[in-house]
Parts: sequence; C-alpha cells; structure tokens
Amino acid sequence: MRTVRAAVVGTGFMGAVHSRSIIAAGGDLVAVVGSSPEKGRAGAEAFGAALGAGSVDEALDAGVDVLHVCTPNALHADHVQAALEAGCAVVCEKPLATDVATADRLTRLAARSGLIATVPFVYRYYASVREARARIQAPGAAPPWLLHGSYLQDWLADPGATNWRVDAEVGGPSRAFADIGVHWCDLAEFVTGQRIVRVLAQLGRSAASRPGPDGTHVPVTTEDGAVVSFTTDTGALGSVVISQASAGRKNALSFSFDGPDASYVFHQETPETLWIGGRHANRTVTRDPGRPGSPPAPYGALPAGHPQGYYECFADFVADTYAAIRGRTAEGLPRFADGLRAARITEAVLASAACGAWTDIPTDTEEQPT
Ligand SMILES: NC(=O)c1ccc[n+]([C@@H]2O[C@H](COP(=O)([O-])OP(=O)(O)OC[C@H]3O[C@@H](n4cnc5c(N)ncnc54)[C@H](O)[C@@H]3O)[C@@H](O)[C@H]2O)c1
Repeated sequence: MRTVRAAVVGTGFMGAVHSRSIIAAGGDLVAVVGSSPEKGRAGAEAFGAALGAGSVDEALDAGVDVLHVCTPNALHADHVQAALEAGCAVVCEKPLATDVATADRLTRLAARSGLIATVPFVYRYYASVREARARIQAPGAAPPWLLHGSYLQDWLADPGATNWRVDAEVGGPSRAFADIGVHWCDLAEFVTGQRIVRVLAQLGRSAASRPGPDGTHVPVTTEDGAVVSFTTDTGALGSVVISQASAGRKNALSFSFDGPDASYVFHQETPETLWIGGRHANRTVTRDPGRPGSPPAPYGALPAGHPQGYYECFADFVADTYAAIRGRTAEGLPRFADGLRAARITEAVLASAACGAWTDIPTDTEEQPT
C-alpha cells in the first residue's frame, strides 16, 4: 500500500491536530507551511515534518499527494485552488469558504479534477453517532419528527477575548454559526438522513466590541450566538442554539432526535454513551465494539472502557480520506459537497436573520460528489 505524502498549511490548533492525525493514519507528513518561513520551520519541527515552508507552492513542489488546509477561513479558497490545480487532493477545514459562490466554485473544481476533496465534519466519526444513525435509518424505523439541540462554547464569553474569527474579513460574515453551527447541522442531516429545507434565524452578540489589533476596541459585526428554527424535507421540526459565549460550556455539542418509538440523545463531551428513550423504558448504551448492534470497525474500534475521543475521530477521518485517495471510498466520508451544503445553510441563516422571515435553502441537485 502506497504511503500518502501530505502537507499541512497552518500551524495553529488544527494544523497540530491534522499533523498528528496524518501520522496516526499512516501518512507521511512531508511539509508544514506557516504564515512565514520561520513559522513553517517551527511548525515542521513541532509536528515532525522534514520541510518547513513559507508558501503552499513550496510545499506542493516537494511532491505531495494531499494538502491539509488549516488556515483562517478567508484563505481556504486560494490554498484549495492551488492544490487542486497542482493535481493534489485536499482536506479543507470548515467552513470550506466564506460564501456560497466560492464554496460552489471549489466544489466544481474538485469534481472536474477527479481528485479527492474532503471537509472534516469530524463528529461523524464517533461510534455513538454512527450507532444513532444506523438505528434511525434502519429499515422500518419510524423517522424522528423533532430534531433539537445545541452547540455551546465559552471561549468568547470574556468580552476582552478576541481572535481572527471576529474579523469578518478573515472569518467571514457568519462567525458562531459558520464556525460551529455547521457541525451541528451536518450531524443532524448525517444521522437522520433528512435535509434542512427552511430556516428562521435570530443572531445575537454578547459583546458589542472586542479588542482590535492596535489595542483599541472595535465594534463586533458577527454573531456570538444564534437561535435557529428549521424544518426538514420530511416535515420534521427542529431548533438549534449556537453560542461561543456561554460561560462554562466548553465544547458542548448535543442533539436529541425524537421519534414516536425512540429518541436518541448524544453529548459530544461524553461521547462513549448514547441515550435511547422508549415509551416504556429508557436505556443508555455504552460504546463497545463487542456488543451486537455496534457500528462496524474501524469506527470506535478501541476496546470498551478505553474512551474514544476527538483525536481518534480525526485520525479515522484522515484514514478514510487516504483510503479514498487510494481508490477505496468509505461510507459517510464528508466531502466538498457537504462543505458547500454547510455554506448554503449558513447563507440562509444570515438571510433569515436579516429579513426576519423563514428562508428556503436552495436544493443542491447540481452538487457533484467529490
Ligand atoms: N473541524 C474542526 O473540528 C475544527 C476545529 C477548529 C477549527 N477548525 C477550522 O480550522 C481552521 C483553522 O482554525 P484554528 O483553530 O487552527 O486557527 P488558529 O488561529 O489556531 O491557526 C491558524 C493558523 O494559520 C496560520 N496562518 C495564517 N495565515 C496564513 C498563511 N497565509 N499561510 C499559512 N498559514 C497561515 C496562522 O499563523 C495560524 O498558525 C479554521 O478554518 C477553523 O474553522 C476546524
């Protein structure tokens, strides 16, 4: 089996996570690209790559099979395009792009190239999520009619906190929803098999201003949180609450998908269990590859009692991407089409919040699987 040669652009949180996952998935981390040659070299040393580069072109010239794009959102498009035009597969962080037109262009470019192009909707890789999906979509199962949940964080709860994401020029016109709301919506669609078709959204801010680059305070133009009602293509009702300024909530992604026969509850911070509600009895199933009904390996293949976490999910996602590069496609691999889907939902959320009305999400029949 040929070893996949990889480069990572971006040396922050996700650059580190991708680099670790590349190695865990059996890839060869050839190059790390920083925002300067010095940062590239420091990243290469920290993550274990031979080459520390100051530009994506330098890394592509080293002969890589796949580029992992882990830079601020507004930079994704240029990095993705450079890779695809060089004949290189891409893993691009979400949001794929900061607007639908760009996400659409990149998705089409990837489809035309025939190259593998994926987006890390990584929460799909929890065994408990796969189990909920298998149970909900089992033949004969009554579909959930009520989908609800939240994704809450607190890293922007302090009004003195800031980040490149707060600057709409770099992060995009949606912040909290595009950053984390899209993960929740991806899970809702992936697990239930339903599509969100309309949204009614409210956006809000916890802080009116945050520190700017020169120490002064600058007005915040993007949302700290969102409350979104929606309906799906099967007529199910839904609501999701998104926040990056909820004190005490760290990475609290949770869903409840409720049906007449069974309801399924998952909490990302305690991912080893799935709560299944029944009309006469409730139960909590614990991830255990030895239990009948568990999702097939490799998802959550660790023996029971050895908790599966974010790193394992990420490595499984990268391994599936690399299997696809070698020609073997794994079920449920999130692709650019899913990134485009997320961009469409985000744009509808922004439009709905702006006009205060229900807003349709355009169908994506023209999307190409990539
Ligand atoms: N899938 C997930 O679970 C997940 C989680 C967190 C973040 N993300 C996404 O990952 C991306 C990166 O987020 P992060 O949290 O790692 O941010 P970060 O700020 O920690 O890292 C961004 C890095 O990009 C570097 N950079 C900036 N401009 C560059 C350039 N021109 N060339 C090369 N490098 C450059 C910065 O120096 C920094 O090291 C974002 O798009 C974010 O939405 C995804």
